Order: sequence, then structure tokens, then C-alpha cells
Amino acid sequence: MTSAAAETHERIPTAVFPDNQAAVRHVADAIETLVRERAAAGQPAVLGLATGSTPVPLYRELIRRHREEGLSFAHVITFNLDEYYPLEPQHPESYHRFMREQLFDHLDIPAAQIHVPPGDLPRDEIHAACTAYEQAIRDAGGVDIQILGIGRTGHIGFNEPGSGPASVTRLVTLDRLTRADAARDFRGEANVPRYAITMGVGTILRARRIFMLAWGRAKADVLRQAIEEPPRDTVPASYLQQHDATEVFLDAPAASELTRLRSPWWVGFPEWTTPLTRRAVTDLSLKLSKPLLKLVDKDYQENGLADLVTSHGPAYDLNIRLFNEVQHTITGWPGGKPHVDDTHRPERAEPARKRVLVLSPEPADDILAMAGTLHRLVQHGHEVTVAYLTSGNLGVPDAEARWAAQLMLEANAAAPDSLARRVLDELARKAAFDQDSADLRRFKGFLRRSEARAALELCGVPAPNVRFLDLPFYESGTYRRFQLGDADATAVGRLLHEIQPHQIFTTGAAADPSSVPAKSFAAFTTALGAAADHAWTKDCWVWLFRSDGREWPIDEIEMAVPCSPDELDRKAQAIYQHRSQRHQTPVTDSDSAEPWEQAVDRNRATAQLYDRLGLAEYEAIECFVRWQPTADTSTSTSS
Ligand code: F6R
Repeated sequence: MTSAAAETHERIPTAVFPDNQAAVRHVADAIETLVRERAAAGQPAVLGLATGSTPVPLYRELIRRHREEGLSFAHVITFNLDEYYPLEPQHPESYHRFMREQLFDHLDIPAAQIHVPPGDLPRDEIHAACTAYEQAIRDAGGVDIQILGIGRTGHIGFNEPGSGPASVTRLVTLDRLTRADAARDFRGEANVPRYAITMGVGTILRARRIFMLAWGRAKADVLRQAIEEPPRDTVPASYLQQHDATEVFLDAPAASELTRLRSPWWVGFPEWTTPLTRRAVTDLSLKLSKPLLKLVDKDYQENGLADLVTSHGPAYDLNIRLFNEVQHTITGWPGGKPHVDDTHRPERAEPARKRVLVLSPEPADDILAMAGTLHRLVQHGHEVTVAYLTSGNLGVPDAEARWAAQLMLEANAAAPDSLARRVLDELARKAAFDQDSADLRRFKGFLRRSEARAALELCGVPAPNVRFLDLPFYESGTYRRFQLGDADATAVGRLLHEIQPHQIFTTGAAADPSSVPAKSFAAFTTALGAAADHAWTKDCWVWLFRSDGREWPIDEIEMAVPCSPDELDRKAQAIYQHRSQRHQTPVTDSDSAEPWEQAVDRNRATAQLYDRLGLAEYEAIECFVRWQPTADTSTSTSS
């Protein structure tokens, strides 16, 4: 498709790359060109910088160019977008500290040329400091290149919904979703500051060039709104449309909701592949609130699908074909139905008794996505092993650890120098934001282990089949800054060799590359790749569940496992066993506060979609997409 066609929908020039590394090189090239040109002319280059996980790969690339290619930043002046308030600059989660650790400590920018909004001023000095920040940007000649990420609320900087295009540097109140997204960094939402100082949307729009970056499917919805819908206060990033030198750089999962990728029939004449046809017809049926079998030629013609109905119609034929395809995704036999014709079933019938391995990035990811399916697999006699790749100990609030340690003392099970005693002593000393000691992390890991075991017991998975890999990347890292090493894939590889699974359920393929699911998935694919010569891999199918609080789009689902009302109840109970995660996982902006409510709501919503398409009406459905090493589920497109 031509970029001109895409532009009819995209109101900001947008480049889509197969992965974030390719995008980052592009942005680093532009920065390098600016920095070198200005240095040659004896002038400073002014960069506007962001924090968060998005720019980290860009900063690594700039550091590499500085170290290996002699790119000097001595003439660079920087202005950061924002800082939490109130927060000391030395706090582990302050953006001052983040920038030092991720960038400034590794480059040759003189300290006097670095500017980050202050997070530690008395309240009555903030206004003057914000005015001075704006003035300092003007005195430096204005920002040449502004780097931006985007929050799931559509914020840029910390300009939350409601921020207008003329806003300037100021104190703002953080949105609930933004604080929830930061909860892991601060070890609990209660510890996340309520306010921030941020450059305004107007401040950002005064930069000469703006590059907005985003990775991972969780941002896809808000990116479509920012890029394709008219600018409005509820999506502050949409005001970038009013700037004539903004470019957006996305990886394929982040771009997946853009019209040119999601509904390309609106921007040209696409090749009507089976997946695209399924998407077009299911979208049409849901949009018109008409079951698949009731769509008529006119519906197709009036809704941008004249080409489809002309080349592959009439409507009746298309409808029947699609109805059957969607029908065939539904199965009560997630491990395959033994001894029957499996031509139109999602899973193969043989072997009748499969070795099934569930790889869950953190405890609870498995249960939230597939407690009902797990129970079925066990009931159907498959040998099910669940492995937790990371301990999840960073997600346990101190209060939960205190509760458990006190319980142990109460039961008189703890000697004076016991772990429980040491944990209680540490918790008594520890300030809210202090890092956990190795002891405390270990203890929190134990908590999550016992929760995971209790949840799996309800699904029928026997205790010896529950494994905890505690991958090193997680144990030695913190959120947004995890780095995968060889030992991670080696540990996963060892487990694969031991189990030699016929079926694997996992997640993380299209997640933000810095997230725990994405790192876990990378460790898994590396391990699977390394095992490619082994016979068992030839007969091993991989199924993906989602772990970002959303479900697969209906047209992508390849296996839909219905749950009865009783099974859904059991699932809610199993999720409830993860008590340290209550109030901890508000991954969507839905009003259902608790993880079990959100998960069962999602499963009910999927069942309702099948019903609206005119298929059977189930209580709830868990769903999966098949992944194959040669055909990744992500679309790789670049413009
Ligand atoms: C940070 C900032 C924020 C982030 C946004 C995305 O300085 O300005 O707007 O860019 O919250 O955060 P990540 O990159 O962590 O997804």
C-alpha cells in the first residue's frame, strides 16, 4: 500500500519497523547527525528527553555510539520532560536517578548542561521553578529534537487526559492508570507519588522536531487514537498532529491497530488472505450487530468491502465459510480430542495423552489466562507441568510479607535467627521506598510460590508438577531495566529437554520488549531455537495466551475453550489464591478493580462476541493463538 493511502488515516507521519532495534537505529541516526553538525559549527544541540522503558534501547544505542564510535555529547544540552513530585533526586525511582543510570553517567555531557524538573521543592516554590524551566529552554535556543514515549492514557510527558495544547511546565495530578502502571517500580501503588512536574503539551509542541516512540501491543489502541483521530484533550498525544515536524516510530505490535494494518481495505486493495478475510467479515458482523450468516451483499458493499464480496462472494458463500472457520476454533478439548477426525479441530488428536508445559512469566499469569483450560487438560488425562519462569517477588507488597512472617512467628515455627524473624526486623527498619534485601526478596518469592501452588491445586495440577525457575534476569533486575543473559535461556532449555512437551502454553510474543512477559518469551524462544535438532520439537505445538489485561482480537483466536459457570467460579477462586496480588494488578482502566473480576469479565466478553457472531452462547471463553517459530504472530511491516 502506498504511504499516501495510509496518510489519509494517519495524521502524523508514522514509520513501522519489524522490531524496536530497527526503529531505535533510525532515531539514533537523526540525533547523531544533529549532534555532529552542531559540534562542527561550534553550537550546542538541544535534546528533550523522556524516561520510562521506551527510550532505554535508544539510550543504549547512543551510549554504544559514544563508546565505540567516538560520538561526543560535550556540546549537548538536555531537558527532561518530567519528574515525580514529591521525590528526592536520589530516590531509586526518581527520573533524576533513572537518567543518570541509563544515560548521563555513560556520556560526556557536562553536568551544568543537564536539566531535569525538580521533584523535591517546597510546594510554594514550584510555580517559580516551572517558569524558570521554561525560560531555561528558551535561553538554550529551544529544543531541537524532543524524544517522547506515550502512556496508556495517551499522556506525553505527564500530561494526562485533560491537558490542553497550550499547557506549560507545571505540577499535575497523575491518572489512576498511570499510577497503576508505575506500581511495580515503586513496589505498590500506594507508594507511587500522586503528582508530577511535567513540561506542558505546549512546551513539547515548541520543539523543532519531535520523535514519539512506542513498543508493544498494549499501546496499540491509544496510538491509533493519537495518530488517526481528531486531536482532543482526552488523548493529549493527539495534539502532536498540530506540529509539522513530528514523526512516530513504532514496532509492529504497537502499530497493529493502525488502519493500514488492522483494516487495510480502507486504504487500498489488499490481498484477501484467510486471516484478513476473517478479520474483515467478523468486524463487519460486529459493527452492524448482525450474525455472520445474516450478512448480505449490500452490507459488504456499503462498508468498504465491495472488493472482497466481488472477488470472493457472494455474501452467502463468504458467510458460510467464515462461520465454519470461527466455529472450528471452539473446542472443549484443548489437548485435542482423542481418536476422532481432527481435520477441523484446533489441536491434533494424537498423541491422546500429551505432555503439556505451561510457561508462566510470573505466578498468576497462567491462572488469569487459562485456569479453565488447565483444569480441562488435567481432567482429560494429560501430563500437565506448570513452570513459573520468574519468582514474581518484586510484585509483593511489604504488608503481605509482614502478614506471612507474623503468621510464622505466631505458629511458633520460627527460631530467633529464622528468615521470618529477619524479615520482620527488616520490615520494621525499612522505609517505604528502600530496596528489598536478598532475604526479603526470597521470602516474598516463597509467598508467591505458596499462592501459585494453592491456585494450581484448584485446577487439579499436582504439586510435583509445579516448577519455579526463578530466572536470573528477574532476580538481579528491577522493573523496566531487566537484562536477559545466557543463563536464562539455559534454564528454560533444561526444562524443555526434561519434559519434551507436545504442547506448550505461554505468552509475551507481542509485549513491550522490556516487560517480564517479553523477556520470558525471549528466553523461551532462544531455548526452543537451541533445541531445534531434537526430535520432540518436531511434534511440539505452542499456544499463546495474553498477559496484558486484554484478549486476542476475535479474528485472531485459533483455539477458544468454553468455560461453564461452575468452571468460571473455580477460576475466580483460583485467582483469589494469589492474595498478594489483590489490588495489585489493575492492568486495564476497567471499573472492576480486582484481578479475578477483570479476568472473568474478559472471558465473558469473549463468549459474548462469539454469541454476537451467531455462534453458540457460552458463559465464558478462554482463548489462544498458535505460534510457530517461522511465522511469528506479529505483523512485520515497515514503511
Ligand atoms: C516519561 C514520560 C512518560 C512515558 C510514558 C511511557 O518521562 O514522559 O510519558 O514516556 O509513560 O512509559 P513507558 O515508556 O515506561 O511505557
